[in-house]
Amino acid sequence: MKKLTLLALPAAFALALTTTAFAADGKAVYADNCTKCHGEDGKGATKMGVKLGARDYTDATVQASVSDDKAFKSIKEGLKKDDKTLMKASELSDEDIKASVAYMRTFKK
Ligand code: HEC
Repeated sequence: MKKLTLLALPAAFALALTTTAFAADGKAVYADNCTKCHGEDGKGATKMGVKLGARDYTDATVQASVSDDKAFKSIKEGLKKDDKTLMKASELSDEDIKASVAYMRTFKK
């Protein structure tokens, strides 16, 4: 019985580690894929952001204008305005997209 517990423990530990390693990290995903346009602070004041018209996501009104579902869809499938591509369809996993949107929500003032 004692032997079994000793064996099971490292296995559970390894599992916990793996889960952590694969869990989506919104901040990291955002930093790698979104800051170019939306900026580290979400204000969209980068060169690309200004050029494409990225909005200020510290603004509660801007945040309120986009639902989580809409945000997800726009990132996943891309966003266009007239003929101009604002965001290309993302190759991120669904989980990473949701995590990056959740992180973006933290910019709201
Ligand atoms: C090539 C520049 C670019 C990149 C990279 C980019 N975006 Fe955008 N994004 C825009 C522009 C431009 C808009 C339209 C104006 C706005 O809402 O800021 C937009 C809109 C959005 C919207 C609102 C969508 C809607 O339907 O109104 C969300 C949410 C968003 N981006 C999140 C992200 C996240 C999260 C990432 C990274 C995974 C990302 N964006 C990467 C340029 C970019």
